[in-house]
Amino acid sequence: MKKLFVKTYGCQMNAYDSAKMADLLAPLGYEAADAPDGADMVILNTCHIRERAAEKVYSELGRLKALKADKARDGGRMLLAVAGCVAQAEGEEIVARQPAVDLVVGPQSYHRLPEMIARAARDQGHALETDFPALEKFDSIPAPSESGVSAFLTVQEGCDKFCTFCVVPYTRGSEQSRPPEAILREARQLADKGARELVLLGQNVNAYNGPASGDKGWSLARLCDAIAKIEGIARIRYTTSHPRDMADDLIAAHGDNPKLMPYLHLPVQSGSDAVLEAMNRQHNKDDYRRLVERIRKARPDIALTSDFIVGFPGESDADFEATLQLVRDIGYATAFSFKYSKRPGTPASTMRKQIPEDLKTARLDVLQKMLLAQQYAFDDSQIGKTVAVLFEKPARRDGQIMGRTPYLQPVHVQAGPHMIGQMAPVRIERRTANSLHGALA
Ligand code: SAH
Ligand code: SF4
Ligand code: F3S
Repeated sequence: MKKLFVKTYGCQMNAYDSAKMADLLAPLGYEAADAPDGADMVILNTCHIRERAAEKVYSELGRLKALKADKARDGGRMLLAVAGCVAQAEGEEIVARQPAVDLVVGPQSYHRLPEMIARAARDQGHALETDFPALEKFDSIPAPSESGVSAFLTVQEGCDKFCTFCVVPYTRGSEQSRPPEAILREARQLADKGARELVLLGQNVNAYNGPASGDKGWSLARLCDAIAKIEGIARIRYTTSHPRDMADDLIAAHGDNPKLMPYLHLPVQSGSDAVLEAMNRQHNKDDYRRLVERIRKARPDIALTSDFIVGFPGESDADFEATLQLVRDIGYATAFSFKYSKRPGTPASTMRKQIPEDLKTARLDVLQKMLLAQQYAFDDSQIGKTVAVLFEKPARRDGQIMGRTPYLQPVHVQAGPHMIGQMAPVRIERRTANSLHGALA
């Protein structure tokens, strides 16, 4: 057997793609290794979303170059591949910067890896594939070889929104939805391998519009209804949603589909209308507030989360204050927040009034403190309650297992591994920094 080491950066979709690349290479005799040392092939599945994410890839490539040289000294060959969004964005540049790289493959073309490997082996040169062949890759990938209790399933890829800060429309291409039949087939395969929860993925997942013959196309709500009928599937989640694409039937589904979890990642980015406009978000803060009201009407206990960017070009103190006000008003269960990072080729990167780094840092600090306080308050509100926990895996501490509440909070419980894959009521007793602790009720 040949050894394959895949390192994943970035979002959940990259994690999904990494698993698919491993499944795709298994028939060629590659089996997963948990370290790059001595591997026959190393794939870095990269992220280009912020500058630091991309820079990490080049320093990792520097380290791998040495391992590749070791392998060559022993008479072997380590194929070094860069996949994912840096591959798409930088293409040939990567080989120019790090000649040890053999293969560069974009996120829509990794189904071509087998032929690329053959080509690289034949002529010892490097191979590059960065096309966007309309979701063709899904046709070549074998059925999932295994599944965790919670499994990712890509239903949609790409984005047509073109937020002015974001590289995703350039690295993932335009919005495309997989046909519902293909998704349902994969969902059943995952359920057969033990998945109890499916997390439907898309860069703009709520824009899902599944091509179906003789039909006007399936909405995400309809897809969730069909998935809810699959035996073994107890929970459905989806991410990431754009506020503009929260359709009425999807909002209603949060009230009607009991398997759809009361948790929604709905990034707002900023609470200032001027900044939202400059970001080309296509919504203002009041649209967002009204949307949240409607969602909470359909599902009053829904936990909301968001992404925020601080220090977007032109962001004034008053703009930043408006973001804090929105956070106070909405109340988030948890959230991700980032300093604005210039991405080459995006409109915001050349905007005037870029914000100095120290001001970005100061604002991020204030925002993160507020978000963390909200997260703790939300977690604390669960203490004393009995909630349904789906157990996923052994916990680090002996005799404990880890599961999640409907609101995605991790919970640690004293229980045997036979409970993994099961759902059981847990009484929440206390909170530590990153998780809840409780006992089987
Ligand atoms: N809709 C996407 C968003 C991907 S990017 C999805 O499927 O997740 C995730 C988050 O990264 C964005 O919501 C945004 O908050 C942040 N982000 C994107 N580009 C950024 C940039 N140039 N600088 C800082 N943060 C950025
Ligand atoms: Fe990027 Fe905006 Fe598309 Fe999200 S909606 S992927 S932030 S362009
Ligand atoms: Fe990163 Fe690409 Fe995902 S840029 S966040 S890996 S879509």
